Amino acid sequence: GKVAVMFGGHSAEREVSLRSGQAVLDALLSRGVDAYKFDPAVRSVSELVAEKFDNVLIMLHGRGGEDGSLQGLLEQLQIPYTGSGVLGSALSMDKIRTKQIFSSVGLPTANYKIVEKSCFDAGSCEVIMQEFGGAIMVKPALEGSSIGMTKVTKSAQLLGAVQHAFKYDNNVLLEQYIEGSEFTVSILDGKALPSIRMSTPRDFYDYEAKYQADSTQYFCPSGASDELETQLADYAERAFKAVGAGSWGRVDFMCDSAGQLYLLEVNTVPGMTAKSLVPMAAKQAGYSFADLVEKVLSGAGL
Ligand code: DAL
Ligand code: MG
Repeated sequence: GKVAVMFGGHSAEREVSLRSGQAVLDALLSRGVDAYKFDPAVRSVSELVAEKFDNVLIMLHGRGGEDGSLQGLLEQLQIPYTGSGVLGSALSMDKIRTKQIFSSVGLPTANYKIVEKSCFDAGSCEVIMQEFGGAIMVKPALEGSSIGMTKVTKSAQLLGAVQHAFKYDNNVLLEQYIEGSEFTVSILDGKALPSIRMSTPRDFYDYEAKYQADSTQYFCPSGASDELETQLADYAERAFKAVGAGSWGRVDFMCDSAGQLYLLEVNTVPGMTAKSLVPMAAKQAGYSFADLVEKVLSGAGL
C-alpha cells in the first residue's frame, strides 16, 4: 500500500523529527515500500485525504504529532497509523500525568512538585529547594528532547530555570534529580528490547548530549546485572501499559548508586536519528534499522 511518513511538523522538536523521518523514509524506500514524505507543517488535511494513503507512519516528535491530536484526526479519517493511540499518546506527552499514573500503579518515580505559571510564587524558591534537599530537574510538562529543561543545584538558580520552562509550558514539573546512571528501554511490539546506558560529562543528558556532542557514551549491552536488566524490562513494559501506550516506544529511567530504579517518562514516538536509542537497542536484538522500521509499520492500525 501507499505509506505516508509524517515528519517535520511545528513542534520545538522539528529538527529532530526531520532527521528521524528522513532516515525512516530512506529505509522504507530501500525495502521497496511505496512511501512518501508528508510534513504537516507545509501540507493540509485536505491534501492528506486526497493522497489516499493506506497507512501513516508517524515520525513527528512533540506536540501536534506525538500528543494524541494527530492520532485523533487519523482515527476520524479512518487512516491506519503507527504507534500509540489517542489516550496513550496524550498521557505520555505529559510528564506530570505520566508520573501520577506511575505512582498510582506502584511504579517507582522520583519525588516531584508541580508549579503553574498563573500562581507561581517567586519567593518560594528557597523553601522548595529545602523541601527537595538536593538537585532538582526543572521540566516543562509537555516537551521532548530535554527542551526547556534545567538541572538546578542552588536556590538562586531555581527562579530562572522555572521561568525558562514557562516559555514552553504553563505547567512545569520539578523533579528530584537522581544521582547515578541513566538507562533507557526500547519497546517493540509491546516487548522490551535490551537496555542502553547513557553517560555524559555534561550537566545532564540534555539536547546537546542527545544530538550534537561527541562526548556522549552509549553502552548496549548496558552492563546491568541480570537482575537489574529483568527489572528494567518489567518496569518498562508495565509503565508502557499503564499509560495506555502501544506497539513501539521508549521508557526512560534513572538508577541511583544503590541500584534503585526510578521511572522518568514514556516516549511514544522516540527518535530514529543516527544517534538515537531505539535503533541501537534493535540492533543489539538482531534487527537492522530497516527491519525495525518495517516492524513499526506493520504495527499500524486504527
Ligand atoms: N523526544 C525524543 C525524540 C526522544 O524521546 O527520542
Ligand atoms: Mg521525552
